[in-house]
Amino acid sequence: MPIITIAGYKGGICKSTMAIAVASLLSAEGRTLVIDGDPNRSASVWAREGKLPFTVAGEREAANLISPCPPDMLSLDALGLMAQDLPKDTNGSVLISAIPPPPQTDGHDLRDALIAKGYPTFKQGIRFDKAYKNAVTEGLPIQKTKGGKIGWRDRQTLKPEILKAVAKPSSAKT
Ligand SMILES: Nc1ncnc2c1ncn2[C@@H]1O[C@H](COP(=O)(O)OP(=O)(O)OP(=O)(O)O)[C@@H](O)[C@H]1O
Ligand SMILES: [Mg+2]
Repeated sequence: MPIITIAGYKGGICKSTMAIAVASLLSAEGRTLVIDGDPNRSASVWAREGKLPFTVAGEREAANLISPCPPDMLSLDALGLMAQDLPKDTNGSVLISAIPPPPQTDGHDLRDALIAKGYPTFKQGIRFDKAYKNAVTEGLPIQKTKGGKIGWRDRQTLKPEILKAVAKPSSAKT
């Protein structure tokens, strides 16, 4: 059973949102379980209405790391701290999240910085979209939320990259 870990040291970098999105994508491929190890239990709150197409449960296990990083210095710095602590053979990639719209170039600038640091990074990033807040309020996955189409398109473009990452033998320690 492939395991994917969504983690990052900094708060508010879109970890819980990404966990729900990845589970929404993968639940089309087979039975999917989200293990919510977040002390604030955001994913569990989102799932409370029972409208999500997968189960959310407590506790945690780690492999195939996805580490969301919005384009800001504090998030990049916290990512660096986490990278120092991870075993060298950790299989994982950075996901650039909550990217502001053009003409702002923050998403591209962060990608350049991540490449310069040698961090594996997903080609597809996730754009900033206020539909995510509505999705949580309504307890729905993003694709079922009003105005959620753009966010869902980003996730679908990301899906082949995630499936490829999961197909690699994982060496991440738990
Ligand atoms: N692409 C996006 N566009 C706009 N808002 C977003 C996006 N992704 C997430 N958000 C919003 O950003 C906020 C933080 O997201 P989330 O709770 O997923 O972060 P987190 O890393 O799990 O935070 P914490 O460390 O507190 O657990 C939430 O209000 C969420 O709805
Ligand atoms: Mg969270």
